[in-house]
Amino acid sequence: MRRQILGLLFSCLVCLNLSAIAQEKGGRPDQRWWQHAVFYEIYPRSFADSNNDGLGDIKGITSKLDYLHWLGVDAIWLTPMFPSPQVDFGYDVSDYENVDPHYGTLADMDQLIAEGKRRGIRVILDFVVNHTSDQHPWFIESRSSKTNPKRDWYIWRDGKSAGQPPNNWTSLFGGPAWRVDPATNQWYYHYFYPAQPDLNWRNPEVETAMFDVARWWYRRGVAGFRLDAVTNLFEDPELTDNPLVDHQTNAYGDPVQQPIHNLELPELHGVLQQLRKVSDEYDGVLIGETWTDTVDQLKRYYGEHGNELQLPIDFLFFAVGKISAPDFRKQIAVAESFEGQPVYVFSNHDEPRQYTKYGDGRHNDQIAKLLASLYLTLRGTPILYYGEEIGMENNDPKTKEDVQDPIGKLGWPKDKGRDGERTPMQWNAEVNAGFSQVKPWNPVDALYKQYNVEVERRDPNSILNYYRNLLSLRHTNPALLDGKYVALNEDDPNVLAYLRSYAGKRVLIVLNMSGSTQAVKLDLLSKGISAKSSKVLLASFKTPKRGNVNKIDLEPFGAYIAELE
Ligand code: GLC
Repeated sequence: MRRQILGLLFSCLVCLNLSAIAQEKGGRPDQRWWQHAVFYEIYPRSFADSNNDGLGDIKGITSKLDYLHWLGVDAIWLTPMFPSPQVDFGYDVSDYENVDPHYGTLADMDQLIAEGKRRGIRVILDFVVNHTSDQHPWFIESRSSKTNPKRDWYIWRDGKSAGQPPNNWTSLFGGPAWRVDPATNQWYYHYFYPAQPDLNWRNPEVETAMFDVARWWYRRGVAGFRLDAVTNLFEDPELTDNPLVDHQTNAYGDPVQQPIHNLELPELHGVLQQLRKVSDEYDGVLIGETWTDTVDQLKRYYGEHGNELQLPIDFLFFAVGKISAPDFRKQIAVAESFEGQPVYVFSNHDEPRQYTKYGDGRHNDQIAKLLASLYLTLRGTPILYYGEEIGMENNDPKTKEDVQDPIGKLGWPKDKGRDGERTPMQWNAEVNAGFSQVKPWNPVDALYKQYNVEVERRDPNSILNYYRNLLSLRHTNPALLDGKYVALNEDDPNVLAYLRSYAGKRVLIVLNMSGSTQAVKLDLLSKGISAKSSKVLLASFKTPKRGNVNKIDLEPFGAYIAELE
């Protein structure tokens, strides 16, 4: 009880202090801090190496907080930095309440949180809720005997017959999702690598233990969690086989199946509601790694009464694989079709970088600015992946021997793994891009001399300065902070145009999603909007300060942001 009262008192102090920061930056005071915030994802291994061992670390991140403050981010999400055998680079956690010695100590984390707070930057941790490492003491106990009290913390079953797994479920990372354990001759379930056994969330002790982890970090001052693989928490207890998809095989040679019996089971929503209550005790935010096939599935993660995740990521945007005005327009309309804060992510540590995914090889820098102009001006919460702000590209391994990510080894060459999007942050044009004095764990991209923080800070036309100006605009312009989204020129095949409007302020965003120049005549009348001219707030190309709404000239892949007058 005393613990809870102290916790509440502490979280109120934190919340007063931080809501003051939120208001300094502008925006409707009744909005929660995360509704105006820009999140920045950091892969700790690759961000900054303070002790020159080739791996990034927590102190390295702390040393870059001034940069992040200058850039204008409000919260950083760290991918897992907990003790781990590093089979999946931290997503195999062996102790949830500590820091991996590769990355530092708990004292380093405390310092990062405190230094972040001084600059108005909150820290979000990656909570690996679906599975632990096979080296976690819970699993070591669980596997020791069928009668161990922790046996039921994981999912153990007899095989179908000798040498046969209990059912046909396959692992996302290749092969069967079951491994037989010689100690008891039973099989345990692992949706990811065999070194990542799934927790059994049907066991209330698991729930209690995991919620205690959340409280433990909240009390240390973190502002929330990104919930890893949150769609996977429950499996059909009958272990019904999944249906197969038309004799297809995936990059690992496994038959493709529809994972209807081991993903998205309705029971998981009960857990999310309980976790949300825990999180609310500390004014925390929950972000979900919510891969869904449809928007209806996505909606469920907000909770029927807004009582589950505040920020389930809209991965449907990932399906837009090319720069296309109609495709993005359609996807935005879907995100705008229901209540709930949309969450936009265009790249992350599992997916190719924007520069490579959307670049055409000729206009990549313009395209980088164009995409920034899209996801940082939409209504909702953007999560920006480290390095996107300087235009980092994917640097995939060149040979199978170079691959570090186990799925790249298994899937080569169809799937080269995820090393390419996890290369060291490029700080300057010096050795190893200023990331480390020694050879980094993953090679620095070849373009680092041109694309790095130091060089780009000096160039007013760089991608970095464009991001910074855009973030500053987003944090201070009332229409960008709180305005509703209004689609314009909805039949245009090349140009995506929309307004954000709030309290009489109307900000116009016009994005040329084609490789040719475009002259746009805005169709404002059909939306009942009148305006004489537009005053440019930011553009990715040279354009007069004031424009005519009947003819806006756009360069190839040009972005134009203006206030209607
Ligand atoms: C999530 C993470 C990914 C990890 C997997 C298993 O999808 O984003 O990097 O490999 O979960 O934890």
